[in-house]
Amino acid sequence: MSSRALRLVQLTLLSASILSTTIFAQEAAGPTLLGPGDPAWLSYKPVTSAIVFPGGIPDTVVELGHGVLEDSAAKELGTGWRGLLQREPRIVHRESSGGQREVVLGTQAEVNAWRRQPTSTPALKHDAYRLYVDKNAVVIEGGDDRGVLYGAFALLREIAKQHSLVKLDEQSAPWAAIRWTNEWDNPNGTIERGYAGPSIFFENGKVRADLSRAAAYARLLSSVGIDGCTINNVNADLNLLRPENLGEIARIADVFRPYGVRLSLSVDMSSPQVIGGMKTFDPLDPEVAAWWRTKVDEIYAVIPDFGGVVIKADSEGRVGPSKYGRTQSDAANVVAHALKPHGGVVLYRGFVYNNHLDWNDMKADRARAGYDNFHPLDGKFDDNVIVQIKYGPIDFQVREPASPLLAGLPKTNEAIELQVTQEYTGQQRHLVYLVPMWKKILDTDMRASDSAAPLPVKLIVSGERTATEHHTRGGFVGVANVGTDGWLGNPLALANLYGFGRLAWDPSMSAATIIDEWTRLTFGNDEQVRTTINKLQMDSWHIYESYTGPLGIGTLTDIVGAHFGPGVESAERNGWGQWIRADEHGVGMDRTVATGTGYIGQYPAPLAASYESLATCPDDLLLFMHHVPYTYRLHSGLTVMQTIDNTHYWGAQAAADQVGVWEALHGRVPDATYAEVLKRLKYQAGSAIVWRDAVTRWFTKESGIPDSLGRVDHYPDRIEAESMALTGYTVEPATPWETASGGKAVLCNLPQCSVQTTWTEPDGWYDISVQYFDLLHGHSRFSLSIAGHEVDHWIADDTLPGETLNGSTSTRRSLNHVAIHHGDLVEVIGWPDGTEKAPLDYLSIVPSHVHAGVAKNQVH
Ligand code: GCU
Repeated sequence: MSSRALRLVQLTLLSASILSTTIFAQEAAGPTLLGPGDPAWLSYKPVTSAIVFPGGIPDTVVELGHGVLEDSAAKELGTGWRGLLQREPRIVHRESSGGQREVVLGTQAEVNAWRRQPTSTPALKHDAYRLYVDKNAVVIEGGDDRGVLYGAFALLREIAKQHSLVKLDEQSAPWAAIRWTNEWDNPNGTIERGYAGPSIFFENGKVRADLSRAAAYARLLSSVGIDGCTINNVNADLNLLRPENLGEIARIADVFRPYGVRLSLSVDMSSPQVIGGMKTFDPLDPEVAAWWRTKVDEIYAVIPDFGGVVIKADSEGRVGPSKYGRTQSDAANVVAHALKPHGGVVLYRGFVYNNHLDWNDMKADRARAGYDNFHPLDGKFDDNVIVQIKYGPIDFQVREPASPLLAGLPKTNEAIELQVTQEYTGQQRHLVYLVPMWKKILDTDMRASDSAAPLPVKLIVSGERTATEHHTRGGFVGVANVGTDGWLGNPLALANLYGFGRLAWDPSMSAATIIDEWTRLTFGNDEQVRTTINKLQMDSWHIYESYTGPLGIGTLTDIVGAHFGPGVESAERNGWGQWIRADEHGVGMDRTVATGTGYIGQYPAPLAASYESLATCPDDLLLFMHHVPYTYRLHSGLTVMQTIDNTHYWGAQAAADQVGVWEALHGRVPDATYAEVLKRLKYQAGSAIVWRDAVTRWFTKESGIPDSLGRVDHYPDRIEAESMALTGYTVEPATPWETASGGKAVLCNLPQCSVQTTWTEPDGWYDISVQYFDLLHGHSRFSLSIAGHEVDHWIADDTLPGETLNGSTSTRRSLNHVAIHHGDLVEVIGWPDGTEKAPLDYLSIVPSHVHAGVAKNQVH
């Protein structure tokens, strides 16, 4: 082919691929999806009604009661019928339509009255429901009116899954009494660790005028049985308790109410002093107690169904009872007393620890803190206090053991805190379906002795174990942090919110069942869509763990920054206590009783024994529990160092492969969703390479052990920017060094700069990636040209977290099937914008056919 003909083909191909990338770039600029009514998994896509209702679709909804929750249930059935069954049902009150096919909904008492005889259903508990067929009626019978609403959503779920309802008979009750989300929203509209745009509750210091999204959120929560929502940050803004704000917050409670979601607030222990003007906030001071009573009465005057409060105290700079030498139970109880007459509860966080630990002290251990602080207080908390415990002893890492505190409070109500927002797990830019991880924790057996009955964490948090007259409340709390951008930003991340709700209702559901439900409800019952998305989701946690922090080492992210990109050493030598204790000889925290911090001794004996011994400690928690040499052989037979290298290479390749898996769904899922997910998966594939290289290079350098397969620090397809001919660009180090290839990048301090190199390989088709840094602020521009012809240009307009050159801001632009000839000039021109100096790291150029082969060569 002549050179001119080759260029023509090249340009045609390019225009196609540039077009697709440009579309994504434009979409990145604005909110991705939908308005206040974004239905998430309540998409109600049409089903084959003949499968669901072979005898005919019920045409009437009979609402036996008249409360607001039953009204919502009937309304929801109407919405569901219109979408799923393409029918408009009649909705009637309290009377049967006589002989027609109908759906009848009511509380157990109402159903009994309607049938004029007691139902066969045993007494249903609060929030429970039974669905069954009775002659021509599908009956939704609730333990109470909230149970009716949950039953309506359950019926719609069955229809959406396209199950035949001929033999419908399903009875279900929630596993635990407390099923709340926490939202870390601030009055100024920002959300701490929120990755989906601004708050749905607040803006500019006030409650939003338009609360339609808050109402839509309550509907979503209710559809999976969530009955409480704490609307503000655990690092609470004290002003929210001022009278003028309480009236406004009541408006949010008003829009929650029709869905049975009770509003709660995070409060700060110093409130009596800071906003009450008192001299002290000592929880044992009677005047402080009186202040809390008055304040709580004031709240109930405007929010009669107020759920209660969440308290973060003596933690990460929040003050607490320790200021007065008082205990965490003193603090919890003073607020609990005030709430008790109203039926409110205190969710008191077990996340109390010292973030100024001495890293030189080999016995110091942040993981011990929860148990050390709370176990001695067991039995001292009031019956309307629930200690809210993060699933692991550190902080939402990609893998942690179950917190030993969960087993350490047999005489106290406990709730487990899970994190839906992906703070340490890729911030919704990376796909991580968290339900398998949560299941691991919930299934961890905390039995007291080998001969005792199993005591999985899910049983502990059911409240059953402490079910005495006074302690009956266990629970689940999910830190959701939804925002205005499609609830969680990434459409696939909604599976985590859904999964949280389903697990809180029934933790014995499998992760696979939950994802299958979510996928069907969100995307419909198309077989290819269902199996593809289910697999993507089910594989995702393991993939993410593999290219970030395997072997229980922790996520290895920049713990003092955005908690996003790699930052291996950031965990070390500071007071935060997320140490990995890596040196030239070995890695891992020695938490054994024999030689380490003694943390393992906080577990019940059987579990402690299995963690204490290297012979039985699972590989995936090894470095959480033990300090071992890099040459230590795992149960897999590989050394620690080989495993770190192999898992990172496997994980990065697996992340890349997920792009192609998703691409097969083009045209089978809504276009906007397809594009949004594709954009994120492509970003993730690039970011996984940054992670892979940072972590493997760091450990290779530290250990002095080269990669046995010769991959690390050997990137034959890479041209470092700093090694190219620079015009205007200057070489700068990245911090930490491992987050830029070669440790360096180039920055442009002029209006325009360029890097150039001459292609010395043979003529051919190549895939080009330009690795660059896209800081939070600034919109640098770039242009890529081959032999003087521009083949791509783009703007660095993503909002990656960070203002410096590091693994959080490192990203890439890729272009496939580009013709390059031996001797061509390859050039990137950069135009800085403000403090973003059009930073470049490297170019990767590989023959277009290579990718498929690379996958085969990877070793897991
Ligand atoms: C993490 C998170 C904080 C949060 C804290 C908490 O440390 O980074 O932003 O405030 O958890 O759960 O209280």
